[in-house]
Amino acid sequence: MEVYTRIPDLKSTLSHHRINGRTVGFVPTMGALHEGHLSLVNAAQMLCDVVVVSIFVNPIQFNNPEDLEKYPRTLRADLEKLQAIDCDMVFVPSVEEMYPEPVTETYDFGELDAVMEGPRRPGHFAGVAAVVRRLFEIVEPNKAFFGEKDFQQLAIIRQLVKQLPMDIDIIGCPVVRAKDGLALSSRNMRLSDRGRRIAPQIYATLQNAIPRSHCKSVDEVKRYVIGSLECMQVFDIEYFEIVNDTTLQPISDWSEAQGIVGCIAAWLDGVRLIDVIRFR
Ligand code: PAF
Repeated sequence: MEVYTRIPDLKSTLSHHRINGRTVGFVPTMGALHEGHLSLVNAAQMLCDVVVVSIFVNPIQFNNPEDLEKYPRTLRADLEKLQAIDCDMVFVPSVEEMYPEPVTETYDFGELDAVMEGPRRPGHFAGVAAVVRRLFEIVEPNKAFFGEKDFQQLAIIRQLVKQLPMDIDIIGCPVVRAKDGLALSSRNMRLSDRGRRIAPQIYATLQNAIPRSHCKSVDEVKRYVIGSLECMQVFDIEYFEIVNDTTLQPISDWSEAQGIVGCIAAWLDGVRLIDVIRFR
């Protein structure tokens, strides 16, 4: 496994692969790798000849400085995990390497970032778009792999690629969960033991909402999810929205869209957890 810190070195190796007709798969990450990230690498390995993983804690996508400071950094363990699954290349740039000039570009994602994470994390998706665009320009992958847990991020990246336009296949991969159902996230390691025991209730409640979606209204299902979690008195629910899976706009009737997901953000132990469930 080759580890690169400089853009020209990575680009030169990748152009060599491209000249030899090899397809490039790309998995962008912020490190603190878990099975969810490794499942993206596995998917990339199945579909592409060479796989690049980037590890870069992108400062400009954190709207909260404390969250940036507390974001877990576990580079040595990350590299060991990637080596163990035969990843080909890892790109670990510095902030200066990625942002030699201040970022000035702006994006318009329309209604996609007007909901859920968008208004609650101002600047977050602009920061994600800026880093993903730079990484795509450096790696020039044929396919890039993202987890469906960050459902809104995935929709925005699909939109970004259309806007630029870039000829990159964006592949969404299913949420990977711990045995007890908790969606894997780098933030889970910041939960207390008690928090970690309670956290699976988020997914359990989302799952219980599915059968209700066949006999109750959208509003009733929303109230069920929010009410059940809030009555445990440990979760602070930031939002739970039931949305069209393409436009991400909240629906008020199950007949309004063909693909429907529920997206939640909840605080537990001072840690912000997100999850997603498919209704239709
Ligand atoms: O999902 C993430 O880990 C990050 O938002 C990403 C896509 C690597 C951009 O920094």
